[in-house]
Order: sequence, then C-alpha cells, then structure tokens
Amino acid sequence: MNKITNDIYYIGVNDHEIDLFEGQYDVPNGMAYNSYIIMDEKIAVFDTVDQNFTAQWLSNIKQILADRKPDYLIVQHMEPDHSANILNFIKEYPEAKIVGNAKTFGMIANFFEGLDLADKKLEVKEGETLSLGKHELKFVFAPMVHWPEVMFTYDMNDKVLFSADAFGKFGALDVDEDWACEARRYYFGIVGKYGVQVQAVLKKAAALDIQTICPLHGPILKEDLGYYLGLYNTWSSYGVESEGIFIAYTSVYGNTKKAAELLRDKLLEKGCPKVAIADLAREDMAESVEDAFRYGKLVIATTTYNADIFPFMKHFILDLTERNYQNRTIGIIENGSWAPMAAKVVKGMFEKSKNITWTETTVSIKSAVKSENIAQIEALAEELMK
Ligand code: FEO
Repeated sequence: MNKITNDIYYIGVNDHEIDLFEGQYDVPNGMAYNSYIIMDEKIAVFDTVDQNFTAQWLSNIKQILADRKPDYLIVQHMEPDHSANILNFIKEYPEAKIVGNAKTFGMIANFFEGLDLADKKLEVKEGETLSLGKHELKFVFAPMVHWPEVMFTYDMNDKVLFSADAFGKFGALDVDEDWACEARRYYFGIVGKYGVQVQAVLKKAAALDIQTICPLHGPILKEDLGYYLGLYNTWSSYGVESEGIFIAYTSVYGNTKKAAELLRDKLLEKGCPKVAIADLAREDMAESVEDAFRYGKLVIATTTYNADIFPFMKHFILDLTERNYQNRTIGIIENGSWAPMAAKVVKGMFEKSKNITWTETTVSIKSAVKSENIAQIEALAEELMK
C-alpha cells in the first residue's frame, strides 16, 4: 500500500513495455502513469492511466477502497496516457461523478463517442472548491501545461498539489535515476513551447502553501520543493540553467565532426566548465534539445546538403524554434564542398527567435578542416569564452 499522507494513496502503474512515449520519446527506463486516491467522507480518484493497464489500475483502486466506492473521478488532463480508462471507470463505478472543466467535457465527447455523462458531470471553474469532508480541494487551471483543459488540484488540508504533467519525468517509479535529467528532457520535449503558460501557473502556485507535489508522471516530490520549483522557473523563463556550451553536429564523412571536436578541445583547454557535444544523427534528439536549453551557448556544426542543411540538423533546429528557443548565443561551423551555405540557412531558421546573439566568427570549411579553419576555430573558442 503506497501511502502519501494519512488519506492519500498512490494507485498508479509502471510501464516497461512502452517503446516510444507519446509516439516519439525514447524511454529506456519506462514510464509511470500516476493516479491517486483520497479517502475521506467522500472518495476522490485523480486521473486514470494508460489503456494497457486497466485491470491493474482498477485492482489498485479496489485494494484501497475495501468495500467502499469512489464518489468522484477528477480528470485533470485528457491526454490518453491519463484519460484512457474514463469509460472503464464509469462502467465499474456508475454512481461516481466525473469532475472536469468545460474544456475537459468537450474532449471527453471527442474521445468517447456517445458517452452520455448527463447526471455524472460535475463541471468546475477556476478557483472553485470541492469538499470531501476533511479535505477541501481547490481547482487551479493550468491551460497548455500541457493541453488547454489541464487543471491542477490543491488539497488545502494536506497541502498537496496534484500537478498534472507538470513536475513529471520520463522513467518508471521502480527505477532509481536522477530527477533533473529525465524531467528536463520531458519538460523541453513536451511542454517547452509553453513557457509563458508555465510561468502563469507557477505564479498561482506561489500563492499556495505546498508540502507535497503529486505529478502524473515521475516520483512524488516531498522534500526540497524549492529545488524543483526553481528549475521549473528557469526552464519556463528560458533562462540558463548551467554554465557551459553545447556543440550539436552532423557529419557525413567525419570532417565536420573533426571541427566540432577541435572546438570542444579548445574550449576545454581554455577552461570552459562544461562542453557537451552530440552527433545528432546518432544520439537521442530529445537529449540534444534539452542540452540546447540547459546551456547558454550553442554551436551548430553542419554540412550544406541539397542546397539546405543536413536533415538531422534541420530537425533539431525546428525542435528548438518550435519550442520558442531564445536568450542564447549561437556560433556556427558550416561545411560545404563547393558552395557552403549552411550558415545562411541556419541563421534564416532562427529568424523569428527572440534574443539570439550570433558569434562574429563563423567557421567555414570546404570539405576538410585546413589551417585557416583551425584559426577560425581558435577565434570562435575565444569568442565563446568571453
Ligand atoms: Fe502525461 Fe500530457 O500527458
């Protein structure tokens, strides 16, 4: 039995079968779909779980309920990793009310054709409360963190914030791993575009006395909450989290790679506290995206390709610009055997990004790294270290 407070229990599941989360993210340590139950005069269940875990989840609920029945299913987020079992819950507990907001119910109608909630529907508005007896729940809307219907729920009695996807991470709960690494990859992959909206909900959260955060993925957070809130504040304000430089490269025959590695060595020689480097064709793209947001300086090293840039780099830059990449310094290493034009293409792709500072030096290679390029790499390293 997984007790969080006297009356709040964990009833979620671990998924080690999943290959790609949300159809695109590699999750080597699986995924957790969290779900919670508050046992009071009235009983509330928070969110369902992925479609592959119906029986396990219903059994988890039963174990806690003993011979009682839930009064409410609170739907904080309609993405199917949390909402897939709404209909199964209703079949099991037809007397329970389904709690959501106007947008939630619109989405329920979209996902579950013909499901008539009529007398089961309890529609709440921002800031409204629901009393379970001892536990008074307050609904805090969190639109676009990560879908428009998302709401957090604050338990005023136990000072617990149920935070939907926010403060979640990749990885199942039976695997011990660092929080920040997989929470950052999750955040920038999934919510990164919506920094403004995350900032708005962090402001609402700042007005609450929070002792525990219960997200829909990842561990329950009980200690040192300032650390997690601080990282969310940095990430959502597109601030720099760590001192250092990230070099992202693509290379067809190893020449651009050589230049990228020479730059890394130069930077380390000059005392750069951290140089992260990634071959975009071979390493996890979401990992590279999080590193681009983690550090304040980025170097893009890529080849001219089909009068454009190498596909993996194009994908990477689109991932950044779609997520409102901003407030960063960027340097470029371009390569092109007869007409290098990667630098021009790269700059064009960031045209709409806010507050980007380009280094004065661009390393421009024709085919292989030559002495003039070594000098350019030295100058770029010098500039980046300023
Ligand atoms: Fe965990 Fe946005 O779903």
